[in-house]
Amino acid sequence: MTEVVAPVEEESPKSGPSSVGEPDQPEQPSGARGDMADASPLVYGNIGDYSLMLETVRAEGLSVGFVPTMGALHAGHASLVARAARECDVVAVSIFVNPTQFGDATDLASYPRPLDDDLELVAAFGGQVVLAPSVEEMYPGGPGARATTVRVARLGDRWEGAARPGHFDGMATVVTKLLAMTGRCRAYFGEKDFQQLAIVRQLVRDLSLPAEIVGCPTVRDEDGLALSSRNARLSDDQRRQALALSEALRAGATIWQSADPTPDAVVAAMDEVLRATTGVTVDYAALVRAGDLEPATAVGDVSAMRLLVAADVGGVRLIDNLDPADKAIMAEGRIGESR
Ligand code: PAF
Repeated sequence: MTEVVAPVEEESPKSGPSSVGEPDQPEQPSGARGDMADASPLVYGNIGDYSLMLETVRAEGLSVGFVPTMGALHAGHASLVARAARECDVVAVSIFVNPTQFGDATDLASYPRPLDDDLELVAAFGGQVVLAPSVEEMYPGGPGARATTVRVARLGDRWEGAARPGHFDGMATVVTKLLAMTGRCRAYFGEKDFQQLAIVRQLVRDLSLPAEIVGCPTVRDEDGLALSSRNARLSDDQRRQALALSEALRAGATIWQSADPTPDAVVAAMDEVLRATTGVTVDYAALVRAGDLEPATAVGDVSAMRLLVAADVGGVRLIDNLDPADKAIMAEGRIGESR
């Protein structure tokens, strides 16, 4: 499923995250997690030092939790760091705006990079180690100089893969690199990017990487909007329109949980909500098998299905997803975890 393919030729981006500076000396972990807690995280710009630090941690018999991010951290990321801190002795977070997963140079250049705020959040939720490399450190000679791309066939081709060509190849490549740098760990990913999570699980299996992938529930605002760094780009009106995505999921799940659901009726219910909302342009509304993300053709095992939606709201691409068997919808009229 996962293949390593020839380089995608692309120009090296001119800008990247501000380098955190010269390689820090790998500090020795001070043993138990308590010794490292409540302090500013140790920040590494140098990959070798970061890897060595985590090897030392494991050599002391401590477990490593890893949360990969592109920074601009919000409560969704905080929940991943907090869960990793509950389940692992030492938590490492990567902050790297990966140029190879952006199709659009303006999007890449304008991506927020609030490093100081991010470090505060990491510390507050129990992260002790941060990898924040420069683009040159991650991709010596620039992203276009590399000869290897990780491509997860089929799973990466549909839905977001079709809408954003090259995006998942860039994501899969950088995640493979980050997991190689981090070494044996439990790695935490949000279910908000459900297709990304499926692709990461597949590549870890295919490449026998020593990581256990943990999918974590989407964090939502009280009104149901899934948290995303992109929400910051919405005006108040657009934010209200964006609620159509979670409402569509709710409509789809309601049909799914009704007496006689069919995949077509589920999809039609979601589509109707999205199309009825001014300012929202639907890309897709789908009921898929959760494992391989292929469209569902018949009502099968409810635990293995997923609702997916994607739409443009005021020029901002938003995605969301839901387990159609989520009982909170019927019980509480709301979806998923909210903060
Ligand atoms: O989900 C993200 O923030 C990114 O796709 C990831 C996994 C950090 C890879 O750059």
